[in-house]
Amino acid sequence: MFRGLCYGCICGRAARMNKVLLSSGKDDWETPQEFFAKLDREFQFTLDPCANDNNHKCNRYYTELDDGLSKSWGGETVFCNPPYSAARKGKPGQADWIKKCYDESKKPGTTVVMLIPARTDTAAFHKYIYGKAEIRFVRGRLKFVGAKYSAPFPSMVVVYRGGRQG
Ligand SMILES: C[S@@+](CC[C@H](N)C(=O)[O-])C[C@H]1O[C@@H](n2cnc3c(N)ncnc32)[C@H](O)[C@@H]1O
Repeated sequence: MFRGLCYGCICGRAARMNKVLLSSGKDDWETPQEFFAKLDREFQFTLDPCANDNNHKCNRYYTELDDGLSKSWGGETVFCNPPYSAARKGKPGQADWIKKCYDESKKPGTTVVMLIPARTDTAAFHKYIYGKAEIRFVRGRLKFVGAKYSAPFPSMVVVYRGGRQG
């Protein structure tokens, strides 16, 4: 009998993972080191604006206490894997980070590379990414550092090159 909901199988597991990965409870999923290293060889990043003392990918980084959203990233080559939460109760969410990446990339000599879920239906995707950046859809699913399973969502790498795009 069709119940409309699926429990106790792979769909249930994916739903639970989705809840964890997209919920406010988990914002520090760390980029797989090999995945980062490949991008780093291409771009030579100088700044990780959203990190903590244990998961930063560059020597120069900002933590939540610093608030990377409030800093200028001008002149940097930035790798940004932003927090996953949506905005809530005055706290910024992933869409704010996407806007920040777009805005900062307009500054001279600034390149921003962002790793985010490939959610092509969102307002932020259409306002700040689609037609405005190079998009690399990741084949397969990433397994974030410390995660038991691969992510239940596809990812994409968004590249804003040196303040040149429209
Ligand atoms: C998805 S993790 C990425 C960690 C690491 N940069 C990486 O690529 O693996 C996002 C990080 O941003 C940090 N964070 C949250 N709010 C922040 C803020 N306002 N400014 C800087 N970092 C922040 C979180 O503590 C978390 O470590």
